[in-house]
Amino acid sequence: MPPRTAGAARPGADRGGPAAPGRRLVAGLPLVGGARYPLCPMPDRRGKRQSPYTTDRQIAGAFEGETVSRRRFMTGVAHGAAGIATAAFGLPALAFALGPVFERTQAHWAAIGRPEEFSPDTYTPKVFTQTPGVGQVGKTTVYVRARKAEFDPPSSGQFIAVSSRCAHLGCPVRYVDAAQRFVCPCHGGVYDFLGKVTGGPPPRPLDRFTTRVRNGMVEVGPRFSVNYQLKAFSPRDPGESVDGIGQYLYPARFSTAPKK
Ligand code: FES
Repeated sequence: MPPRTAGAARPGADRGGPAAPGRRLVAGLPLVGGARYPLCPMPDRRGKRQSPYTTDRQIAGAFEGETVSRRRFMTGVAHGAAGIATAAFGLPALAFALGPVFERTQAHWAAIGRPEEFSPDTYTPKVFTQTPGVGQVGKTTVYVRARKAEFDPPSSGQFIAVSSRCAHLGCPVRYVDAAQRFVCPCHGGVYDFLGKVTGGPPPRPLDRFTTRVRNGMVEVGPRFSVNYQLKAFSPRDPGESVDGIGQYLYPARFSTAPKK
């Protein structure tokens, strides 16, 4: 069979010959294969309703009187069954994984001492139960001092309670009174008297705890994070910044307890 070239007439096509069955010659249109046809003849289906019967639609294997072919019906049943099976396994697993994220924990308050125990010039370490019901692992150390009007705004409350968990990776920091610094032993993180980072990799100041005085006792409650202006944010995990774009990159969890 000789090769066809662009523009060559189809074998058997005859210039000016009869049109192929079902095709209409139109005057004024370019020559295609020796005859004048619309370049893109499209069937006009507007206003025509498709027959609901598979035999009318010439579907392979169609039976008289059926509106859905058996193949299409079985395909739909198989897809439906697969969807139900996937949901039966997937939805419980998804709920198990995401459920705790939306579960809001209750605020827990713990008494840590009498007000006169705390000085505005140094921190006193106190151990309290932050997460009840889990034994010793629910306890944490907090460094507490009385408010110092010199650099603590009135909104800080009467007492300042600073978390001992390093804001880098969570190692326990220690307050060194001689240097008035918090020092982390893991990667050399250093914080000043207010808990702001002065050295090392921590991305934000030390977290704090809400405090209040009830029945003559100082109590500590929910933890919160602070930025470099000591503005309070919902508690974040170690390694998460709350300054600049960090507060949007590391949003608060739904599960955190309300501050008050
Ligand atoms: S965990 Fe404290 S500096 Fe890395």
